[in-house]
Amino acid sequence: MDTQQFEARKREHIQHSLNSAHQAVGLNGLDQIHLVHEALPELNLEEIQLESKCLGRTTSTPFYIAGMTAGHQDAIRINRTLALACQKRGWAMGVGSQRRDLETGGEGGLLDQWKSLRDEVPDLSLFANIGITQLIHASIAQLRRLVAELNAQALVVHTNVLQEAMQVEGTPQFKGGLEALRKCCSELGAPVILKETGCGFSRQTLERLADLGLAAVDVSGLGGTHWGRIEGARAENSTVQSIASVTFGNWGEPTTQSVQSAAGVLKGAETWASGGVRTGLDAAKLIALGAHRVGYAKPALEAALGGDERLDFWMQTQEFELRVALLCTGSLNCEVLRQKESVWKRSGT
Ligand code: FNR
Repeated sequence: MDTQQFEARKREHIQHSLNSAHQAVGLNGLDQIHLVHEALPELNLEEIQLESKCLGRTTSTPFYIAGMTAGHQDAIRINRTLALACQKRGWAMGVGSQRRDLETGGEGGLLDQWKSLRDEVPDLSLFANIGITQLIHASIAQLRRLVAELNAQALVVHTNVLQEAMQVEGTPQFKGGLEALRKCCSELGAPVILKETGCGFSRQTLERLADLGLAAVDVSGLGGTHWGRIEGARAENSTVQSIASVTFGNWGEPTTQSVQSAAGVLKGAETWASGGVRTGLDAAKLIALGAHRVGYAKPALEAALGGDERLDFWMQTQEFELRVALLCTGSLNCEVLRQKESVWKRSGT
């Protein structure tokens, strides 16, 4: 694929992700989760601590911005806006797929772009990103280069089965994925995180992952940005892809169930939660279900496109809402909330 086609596709992804019709609203199960109110918390709001330890490093908040974009002109601006805000507020951040970087060997200015971004945000916890279909064919040396270019804390490998199947120009070849992941975990020399992109993980899949040596699984479940819907909208009308994207418009494992399964199955790896997280209260619910870190994609992109101030205000709002949820559940910090017995109920149970 040439540069122009690549840039056009990335631009379309950004535009379509902002369309509310491509959000699987109400399907992540968060509306059914109720946090139990503590009327006598014996805590003051100002003592509530958001500091969280992830992958052995302490950050000021448990939040991260999930990987979205990389390797094209708009990406530089968007990633810079997000990175500066994350560094300021102590959030972590993933970049989008570095596929272009992998294919070009960092030519075409990509290397310089990452270097100048890194120079501006030396303390940011940053995650490199590659798709599992690329991982299968990449050498460990190439993967190490992607991590080194960013001075990344970890490599995120994203899996996007439905998207690749539904994308007209997709590469739905996943054979050898599990073995490639196992090799990557044992040889990379940096933590590896497996991440979905909006379809979540079933308990059965998680059981197959449990002994790979992953540092974390970001469940990125059903309930937010839906790539089946987006690729269907990108396809011509009345093509098989556009029709099938309606059929598969609600496909996936809800974020809440994926988090519960991951927290139960993954003993040595952290559980990260994304997929339709839209408020700090959503984040608190997912922490109560077992998440160590909570990520946002589409709302962060929307705020970043509104400028630095809007992004900072949106981030402050998420932090404030999480603080209030911690106070109102009598939890001094996220770890206390995660360990609390009977702090959440699912409606109807
Ligand atoms: C994404 N996402 C994504 N994920 C990934 O691991 N690598 C990538 O390159 C991309 N690209 C991308 C582009 C855009 C425009 C969006 C909105 C998202 C998926 C993202 O990280 C996340 O898993 C899902 O979007 C679900 O989270 P939200 O959007 O419901 O908060």
